[in-house]
Amino acid sequence: MTSGGRIYRISGPLVIADGMKGTMVYEVVEVGEEGLIGEVIGVEGEKAVIQVYEDTSGLRVGEPVRGTGQPLAAELGPGLIGAIYDGIQRPLPVLEGIVGFFVKRGVKASPLPRNKKWHFKPLVKVGDRVEPGSFIGVVDETLAVKHYIMTPLDIHGTVEEVVSEGDYSIVEPIAKVSGRDVFMLQKWPVRRPRPISEKYEPSEPLITGQRIIDFLFPLAKGGKAAIPGGFGTGKTVMLQTLTKWSWVDIAIYVGCGERGNEMADALHSFRRLLDPRTGKLIVERSVFIANTSNMPVAARETSVFLGTTIGEYFRDMGYHILLVADSTSRWAEAMREISGRLEELPGEEGFPAYLGSRLASFYERSGYVKALGKPDRYGSLTIMGAVSPPGADFSEPVTQATLRIIRALYLLDVALAYRRHYPAINWLTSYSLYTENISDWWFKNVGPEYRELRERALSVLQREAELEELVRLVGAEALPEEDKLILEVARMIREDFLQQSAFHEVDTYSPPKKTLLMMKAIMTFYNLALDSLRKGITVESIRKLPCRIKIGRMKDIAEGKVEEAFSNLIQDIKRDFESLIEEAKVLAYV
Ligand SMILES: Nc1ncnc2c1ncn2[C@@H]1O[C@H](COP(=O)(O)OP(=O)(O)OP(=O)(O)O)[C@@H](O)[C@H]1O
Ligand SMILES: [Mg+2]
Repeated sequence: MTSGGRIYRISGPLVIADGMKGTMVYEVVEVGEEGLIGEVIGVEGEKAVIQVYEDTSGLRVGEPVRGTGQPLAAELGPGLIGAIYDGIQRPLPVLEGIVGFFVKRGVKASPLPRNKKWHFKPLVKVGDRVEPGSFIGVVDETLAVKHYIMTPLDIHGTVEEVVSEGDYSIVEPIAKVSGRDVFMLQKWPVRRPRPISEKYEPSEPLITGQRIIDFLFPLAKGGKAAIPGGFGTGKTVMLQTLTKWSWVDIAIYVGCGERGNEMADALHSFRRLLDPRTGKLIVERSVFIANTSNMPVAARETSVFLGTTIGEYFRDMGYHILLVADSTSRWAEAMREISGRLEELPGEEGFPAYLGSRLASFYERSGYVKALGKPDRYGSLTIMGAVSPPGADFSEPVTQATLRIIRALYLLDVALAYRRHYPAINWLTSYSLYTENISDWWFKNVGPEYRELRERALSVLQREAELEELVRLVGAEALPEEDKLILEVARMIREDFLQQSAFHEVDTYSPPKKTLLMMKAIMTFYNLALDSLRKGITVESIRKLPCRIKIGRMKDIAEGKVEEAFSNLIQDIKRDFESLIEEAKVLAYV
């Protein structure tokens, strides 16, 4: 049964409708003569509180409100890849259109093309038994993505009919299971996590090509992470870089309440970029959701859950997905605005008391899972959210609530950004609780030294921070030689390893092998330098070694030349120290 009533009151993005007998929380309703899309968020008697996902200006009391009997659901099926959606999954016409322009209100556009034909190959035959989630067939959606058609999650039983290989639209039946037609188009309510068979502790790294993440504070497939940072510290650049280079099958970029021109720029560049691992275009494995700052605030929340639902859907095919959301703070601000209009009892700084649980309901949808159905599939959804604390004050409620949920934290530091040390991730305050779990992967796949190199690098950086105070008091020159060396090596780690420009042609992406060898080169230098100090050589002369400059150029080494270039570099470092020691011997002799 669907409900129907009239507008009783309008307050910004909120509408109260009367006469809404039978409506339920989270029912989608069409509001006003134009049928603006909204969602019921509260019911009291026959009054329904509705948040409207389109611009409400011009709506008038007395206009009709019509229930649809359905919760807000995402359309899932071929056609998702490369799409650009608004927060309620309306395709945004052209990418240039994102700036200052969005779908006209009241317009009902199908998220997935109805008339496009896809080449469907069946994977079952008549008489086979299928469970919810079992594969029925497959479509090559793009060069990079095979789109598996899964048995809808409320259907199981015997395949009674299945079409032969050929071209079909998403609304033509492709099979019949237990008397029900199965289509390539399926729907799933965005607020409800898609069920899975099992969830595992994340233990494989999600390689991002960003050294500070991969090497020091690794992200794991199925993990949840946040990147809080003050104004202009590099949140957007980092999330875009992750979307480009991460080792995932599909990346989902949710722009939530941020600037439209940034989103348009990102889309522009994604169109041309090739994935270094597959050689295919990055757009052929990406989905974009744009609820930019000029779009209705209430749809910030749906944009986040829409992205998550699409992510879970591809995860269920056995893929590894990364979803980034920029910025969760804008979503939280929308919650605050709506809660304020509802006159709910405010929590800290006016945010609603459910801020933490709402944020958790997003991040908790990450995970490394075994999907439902046959064949056995393992997939993951990794979630990374930007947080934009006003005044870079990390004690504010959104950052604090996020910290309680996530397991890897990348704290952006205003001082580092000011010095143009990018990415401006603070190495002393950031952390990853996945490090232990993923060390094994590095050991087996990249190099046995990972753990040791990482610990040493962190301890040098830690020691540098401790020495800083002393340096301020007495000056670096007064330090013992070993401490001077620590400062020198820490500086190499910071400048030659951690700093990584997102805009450098080669260095924007650092493959794991290169990352490890870069740190190995620095630590080889450190070890030999320590040896030399014991032989009476000064840091002053070590600093002048020619290999010091070569280390500074490691970032330029292209992926194909890594092995050879680093073996030469390590040789050069050794040779430099040998001759330094030789010289010292000669001098001592003279
Ligand atoms: N990894 C990076 N490499 C090179 N430059 C960077 C990097 N990260 C940030 N920058 C520089 O910092 C600028 C601001 O970055 P960005 O827009 O990502 O900040 P933000 O934290 O998203 O800001 P806002 O709070 O306004 O959203 C960029 O335009 C770029 O010049
Ligand atoms: Mg930004």
